[in-house]
Amino acid sequence: MLDSVSSFTLTDIPGAAPLLGHLPAFKKRPLEAMSGWWRQYGDALRFRLGPKTLHLFSHPDLAEEILVHQADRFVKVYDPRRPVGLALVLGNGLVTSSGEVWKRHRRIIQPVFHRSRMAAMADRMAQVGEQRMAGWESLEGQPIDIATEMMQLALEVISQTMFTTSMTQHIEHISRALRVSLKYAFDSFHNPLRLPNWVPTARNREFRSVMQFMDNLIYGLLVERRRTATTHGDLLDLLLHARDEETGAGLTDQELRDEALTIFAAGHETTANALAWTWYLLATHSEAKARFHKEVDKVLQGRTPTADDLQHLPYTRAIFDESLRLYPPAPAVQRKAATSTTVDGIPLPAGALVLIGIYNLHRHPAFWPNPDQFMPERWLDGERPPSRYAYLPFGAGPRACVGIHFASVEGPLLLALIGRRYDLQLAQNSVEPELMVTLRPKGGISMILQPRRVPIVSAV
Ligand code: HEM
Repeated sequence: MLDSVSSFTLTDIPGAAPLLGHLPAFKKRPLEAMSGWWRQYGDALRFRLGPKTLHLFSHPDLAEEILVHQADRFVKVYDPRRPVGLALVLGNGLVTSSGEVWKRHRRIIQPVFHRSRMAAMADRMAQVGEQRMAGWESLEGQPIDIATEMMQLALEVISQTMFTTSMTQHIEHISRALRVSLKYAFDSFHNPLRLPNWVPTARNREFRSVMQFMDNLIYGLLVERRRTATTHGDLLDLLLHARDEETGAGLTDQELRDEALTIFAAGHETTANALAWTWYLLATHSEAKARFHKEVDKVLQGRTPTADDLQHLPYTRAIFDESLRLYPPAPAVQRKAATSTTVDGIPLPAGALVLIGIYNLHRHPAFWPNPDQFMPERWLDGERPPSRYAYLPFGAGPRACVGIHFASVEGPLLLALIGRRYDLQLAQNSVEPELMVTLRPKGGISMILQPRRVPIVSAV
């Protein structure tokens, strides 16, 4: 421990079965298990999934210690030689790599996300949004799955901004491939009893086939870009032209594939879920929705939003922040202790696995008044939670989200863009969260696209 003064006691969650430990409850409903245990047993817990022991930490001081002060000691859990979980899908890309590879690749990729590039990115995001909404006219008045719509919209945004290409014709195939592969990755991590992926089960075959599809898609993009001499100044250009400062070597095809797929997956899945949850929250809070529409109408006057408009849309931004609090797309992050250490009074051996319970932090009653209520106004007038580390939708420390500025523009911008034309009304009774790497609305969210009676100034 460096400069924190807190001290915690670790509690073992009771009821571990002899071999499986707490696996049955966790496997059935991981989010409910983690939040239920935290509510019942406290901020520093230990539980067992088969042979693996995990620590669940749900206090800002513990999060700060692990993600920031002891970031060097708490590393990512993936081993490129024996990939499990997300590494099965993303290989050794920015989310899953560690050490020198991660450092070098982060240096290469970071400039794409510099604040100075966000205005141009915002224009491209808005253009994509307008184009997709043009296709919504035939769907007006009918129920649609807004989660799927947001997934497709965010996918097209990431393809156009990072790879200067359209994925419209592959969208359904890609959505399915990511759904199948991420579920497989999630189960592989938390189910130590699964069969290895070389066994030709139906599930393994399905996984291999969707991965083949994703690989072909990404390698196709690389081949196409190498064939044309045009410069786009996008992520793909940066990756292809990156050279090692010492050796002058470029990234290998495998490295390029891993990074491109990582940005592709991490860059749309999270934002899409955040947007879907936001529409759900607005649809179930009529006063907030009315205030949102009023702000959007007043600021935009029917125009397409730009990055500059965002500073005049504080309520829209607050809605997005509050949605990320209640339904953080990454509800937990995981680390492994590289050496034995002590975290705020808790001794941890080398190899100890730790989950930072972001979902729990965001609903912690010691840090949030009315923690389970949707209250966008808590973000207005510069209000912040009493602890900086009680709100971690984008993580913290050196491994914090590289796309934080991108997502903070994209979320509110697309909300404003859609909200100026449509009133999204819930067409089902309730929605359940499901943890599958990200926090998704289980089975989607059926909503009716109700056109609003406001003048629209067309941009495209
Ligand atoms: C609302 C949207 C988003 C949320 C909630 C989110 C959340 C997160 C979180 C919590 C982490 C840290 C994971 C950890 O500590 O283990 C992370 C990392 C990452 N995110 Fe995001 N993210 C979002 C959008 C994006 C976007 C738009 C991109 C890219 C275009 C992106 C790319 C990445 C990458 C590459 C990493 C790994 C960074 C590293 O380890 O160096 N994310 N994200």
